[in-house]
Amino acid sequence: MDWIKPKTITGSPAEGDCYLRRQYINDEFWEKIRNNEHILFVAPRRVGKSSVMKDLENSPEGCVAVYQNIESDRNQREFFKRIFLLLLDRLKGHNRFIKRVGQWIKQRGIGEISAEGIKFESKELSYKEELLGLIEELGKEEDLRIVMMLDEFPDVIQAIAKNDGDEAAIETLRTLRKIRHDKEFKQFSFVFAGSVGLRHVVATLDRESLINDLAPVRIDKLSDPEAHELLNLLLNGVTMQMGLQERDYLLDKITYLLPYHIQLMVEKCDIILYVTKTTVITRQDIDKAFDEVIKEGRNFNDWETRLTRYLVKEDSKYCIEILTRAAHIEGYTIQDAFNHSKKAAPVTGYKALLDDILIKDGYLVEENGRYFFLSPFLREWWKNRHPEFEIED
Ligand SMILES: Nc1ncnc2c1ncn2[C@@H]1O[C@H](COP(=O)(O)OP(=O)(O)OP(=O)(O)O)[C@@H](O)[C@H]1O
Ligand SMILES: [Mg+2]
Repeated sequence: MDWIKPKTITGSPAEGDCYLRRQYINDEFWEKIRNNEHILFVAPRRVGKSSVMKDLENSPEGCVAVYQNIESDRNQREFFKRIFLLLLDRLKGHNRFIKRVGQWIKQRGIGEISAEGIKFESKELSYKEELLGLIEELGKEEDLRIVMMLDEFPDVIQAIAKNDGDEAAIETLRTLRKIRHDKEFKQFSFVFAGSVGLRHVVATLDRESLINDLAPVRIDKLSDPEAHELLNLLLNGVTMQMGLQERDYLLDKITYLLPYHIQLMVEKCDIILYVTKTTVITRQDIDKAFDEVIKEGRNFNDWETRLTRYLVKEDSKYCIEILTRAAHIEGYTIQDAFNHSKKAAPVTGYKALLDDILIKDGYLVEENGRYFFLSPFLREWWKNRHPEFEIED
């Protein structure tokens, strides 16, 4: 028998056949863009921000939407260079711009552009100035909007602060704000997202005012019907058969309905069936898949390494210790988290770490002064990874 596997994507942004579009997110997004707003996607880790942004590249008439993951940019110059080149590259395929941009580039003595490619004069450019000039030039094109979606933007701001200094990071934020506000750039929209909260990064620079004009668009976990819709999408036409009760059982087991977790489970269930050469999934198979996903761990390590990467040592240590306690003690209390902060001595206030990192980034939820893991997947993984902790008096 030919085995037909589900087309799962587990890790990179979901696209094509295995992407579940939530039209209301796209609608809210374009509505805001039409109102000249600039957007910040707000969502905990792994909820699907990058997938949504990639999907939004399918833009309506009169709009050119460009998506890019800019994580690798390490300083201010690289950042502005990247946006400048990206814009040129995307515009060269548009009949409408090629002439205007071609003339502008020649006039600036930068080089030449055609549908085939861009040829640069070999000379040093101030990419920031050129970018501002290019955007202004594009603004002369009537009824046209350019939407620039920058993924992992907070990461880049953090890297600029580290490599070029805080002032350079602040200046970058200020330049982007100028593009958002000055009328000569009014046809240009910015969209930011990242797996670290932008507000958190900007707060460390003490310049919250430089991003408070951004309109938040929330992306949440899936509702129950949406989760079923995704299962339908993934299981359509494949060899594995999953009855309605088993689907409910699987979703119940995941609890926190991230599309990512659904994809992981479907992928694993398929492998289990393939090995045993059966076609119908049972609850035991689902339990086994759940345990294997956790044991494998490759998908969850990142939740821990992020904390050490983005927080100062004392803070990340405190967060990790709190997560270990919350994984072992169902309903870990705020009072205990406070007591532990006296001993662990994080640099940032303990409540800010709980609220702005552990809750906002999707690790924990708080109910009546008690903390619970949002995802049983992550909780089990965390317990496995940190099997014990020191009991406090
Ligand atoms: N709309 C969707 N339909 C189907 N699967 C999805 C969807 N959105 C996300 N996924 C699943 O979740 C995974 C992570 O998605 P994505 O990279 O878009 O999340 P993210 O929020 O950008 O994550 P990070 O916080 O790590 O940047 C994908 O590999 C895919 O398995
Ligand atoms: Mg992402």
